[in-house]
Amino acid sequence: MSQNPASEGFVPIDRPVRVAFVGLGRIYDLNRLAYDGNGDAEVVALVDPSEERRRQRALDWPMAKVFSSVEELASSGLDVDAVEVLVPIALHEEIVLSCLESGWHVNLQKPVTNDLASAARMTASAASHGCQLRVMENYLFYEPLLRLKDVIDAGELGAISGYHLKMVASGRGGWDVPGDTYQWQFDEAQRGRGILYFDDGWHKLSTALWLFGPVKEVRAWLGSTEVIPGLALDAPSTIVWEHENGVRGVWDITLAVDMYLRSDYYTNDERWEVTGQRGFARVNRCTGRGIQQPSFEVYLDGTMRSYHALDDDWASSFRDSGRHWLRFLRTGDGPLRWSAREAYDVLSLAMAGYESDARGGVGINPATFAPPLS
Ligand SMILES: NC(=O)c1ccc[n+]([C@@H]2O[C@H](COP(=O)([O-])OP(=O)(O)OC[C@H]3O[C@@H](n4cnc5c(N)ncnc54)[C@H](O)[C@@H]3O)[C@@H](O)[C@H]2O)c1
Repeated sequence: MSQNPASEGFVPIDRPVRVAFVGLGRIYDLNRLAYDGNGDAEVVALVDPSEERRRQRALDWPMAKVFSSVEELASSGLDVDAVEVLVPIALHEEIVLSCLESGWHVNLQKPVTNDLASAARMTASAASHGCQLRVMENYLFYEPLLRLKDVIDAGELGAISGYHLKMVASGRGGWDVPGDTYQWQFDEAQRGRGILYFDDGWHKLSTALWLFGPVKEVRAWLGSTEVIPGLALDAPSTIVWEHENGVRGVWDITLAVDMYLRSDYYTNDERWEVTGQRGFARVNRCTGRGIQQPSFEVYLDGTMRSYHALDDDWASSFRDSGRHWLRFLRTGDGPLRWSAREAYDVLSLAMAGYESDARGGVGINPATFAPPLS
């Protein structure tokens, strides 16, 4: 993994951070949770070309000024320290570069961007403007996954033999997703960046690197299923990899379009199961509420330990990720989880998977496939 120079040269902000939200769509509803009643920040601006969304979100922050574009905000003279960038992926680079040019620190939603050259330009721009570019990864703040990491790191399971990530995309249940959100996701799929492997899958690749470190080889077999005429989703897909420490991971993505899944958010049935020489540990769910057992369980020596009182509401991971970022801006205490360099490693793994698939499933080393960042 790339080194994380997050706090190098960073001067903490000695008053509440003045923040602008850029992009007021579906995920704004969860990113905003970090700001409710948080004395570390003051929401000063809301930016979105949609007048309806500006009007709707202004009710949350009556003191904030509203703008239809980042350019309008920049030329307004309003003092801003940091921005939450929550826009379609194809716009990430353009918007992030203009925010960095204005001298604003950036908390960007994942995936960082669609290709490695674009990610390299964004990373270089952050460094040259002396700004922090964070690519937020809320899964690294989800309590059941944090417990999983604790159990692995404490050696409770013994030496780790391998692990399995499972993801089932269902088409029924969950919250409403606006039509224009789906539209840009379909455009992404047309560009070869599928919603399951690339967009949501970003979190699975992230947790793999977070739990077990750099990957030395990935092999991918990415499928495609037409769900409505002209629209295909990137499943069934199977991806396997080996970390530099020898641990192997396998991740399967399955489609169950007619399956109803109870969820307050997206209808994604997810699991992480890590097997060691002495036992296993399992996170049973995350975004959706597929398996209604405790969200985290550890099996050792004939006994199952179940965690019944974790904060396993997926929204809490956004709240805690955002609070962590704002604390970092106020104090300089990292790590960022993720820095732009770490996000580049996640993107490198995703791209190596695409390369493997294109070449019939051969093993690809993400570190040699991706050009190094300067
Ligand atoms: N962490 C997660 O689990 C998670 C979940 C969903 C989405 N996301 C990510 O969040 C980002 C946004 O996704 P979403 O689902 O909220 O999309 P969305 O389409 O619901 O919202 C995007 C918003 O950006 C606005 N927008 C478009 N162009 C803009 C511009 N030039 N300047 C300012 N605003 C502009 C749109 O009007 C819209 O309100 C994407 O990167 C997506 O991958 C992350």
